[in-house]
Amino acid sequence: MSLVEPGTSDGDGTRCVHGGFPGPALGAPVHPGPVLSSTFHLGVPADPPPADFYGRADNPTWRALEDAIGALDGGECVVFASGMAAVGAVLRLAAPDGALVLPSDGYYLARSLAHAELAPLGVEVREVPTTALLTADVLAGAALVLLETPSNPGLEVADVAAAAAAAHAAGALLAVDNTTATPLGQRPLALGADLAVASDTKALAGHGDVVLGHVSAAGPALAARLREARSRGGAVPGPMETWLAHRGLGTLDLRLTRQAENASALVEALLAHPAATDVRWPGHPADPAHPVAAKQMRRWNGVLRFTLASEAAVGAFLAASRLVDSATSFGGLRTSADRRARWGDAVAPGLVRLSAGCEDTADLVADVVAALDAALAFTDR
Ligand SMILES: Cc1ncc(COP(=O)(O)O)c(C=O)c1O
Repeated sequence: MSLVEPGTSDGDGTRCVHGGFPGPALGAPVHPGPVLSSTFHLGVPADPPPADFYGRADNPTWRALEDAIGALDGGECVVFASGMAAVGAVLRLAAPDGALVLPSDGYYLARSLAHAELAPLGVEVREVPTTALLTADVLAGAALVLLETPSNPGLEVADVAAAAAAAHAAGALLAVDNTTATPLGQRPLALGADLAVASDTKALAGHGDVVLGHVSAAGPALAARLREARSRGGAVPGPMETWLAHRGLGTLDLRLTRQAENASALVEALLAHPAATDVRWPGHPADPAHPVAAKQMRRWNGVLRFTLASEAAVGAFLAASRLVDSATSFGGLRTSADRRARWGDAVAPGLVRLSAGCEDTADLVADVVAALDAALAFTDR
């Protein structure tokens, strides 16, 4: 199948809409459906090996999405059945070669996987905060550094180019979890990372109806090892989910624009409201993470955090809101809020990660301000 490769001078919207779709062959569908077949015609022994032979090894629907994401990430993309399948593949790839350096304040299951599955095999797992400097001590004997930037849930930002230089000087690979930023918000490979990994369950697929992940590698050798690991491991993405994510990617540019506008307006409302403290969004010029974020990110997104006085205050906020779903995950069409302490994150009981959706800005701000008013009863002034 010949694929249209949008020009690199095309804008984000054009690349999202056209990436990974077939060229205009006469009578061919403009919107090809998912290829659900697990088996493929192999011909006779004299025939050349076909691109596809078995659904666990590869699939045209995977390749279409991989082409689209890989072009945006600037690398070779391998799709996985979930973000954790992608993170796990990266950790397992590096673990035989040395220590793993992981964010102490990033998505908790990356640490949990390393401690539960890799440490018992003798792999040393080191945890460092997202904003910490990667010193020679931290990196001695390391095979891989995983950064998560902006981090979930703290929305702290790490300098990717500086981390790449430090990791490479120590002989380690650098992987960046790019989930909150998306390939439109940040290009870790262009900043020097070896691997960009993401949960596409979030903004990339964007509609809250798909679980999927990917890794983009800076070079073909790493991508080939990841593909082999995916095939061996066997927990592969379904073609239907892959196709849904590709459909969602078509509107990523539009959705991110609205989500970032909504986040910006919500941050102003939160900063002005007495119920909220500790408001963080890297896109805000006064945010402590903004200088580094502005240096390396291409555009903002809808994920922010703030802290209410207590668990009960969060309860009052959620109960009073009409538009904010109490739900985990982020990057979807609908605005959602998640009290992260409930999952065991080492944060204040009232810390809320809020994912601004695509609702009208005025409606959303009015709703959130009314919900904050309800939380005020639980706040000492
Ligand atoms: C930053 C980050 N990385 C990875 C994951 C795991 O992704 P998934 O839920 O698709 O397995 C998540 C999930 O919340 C996440 O927030």
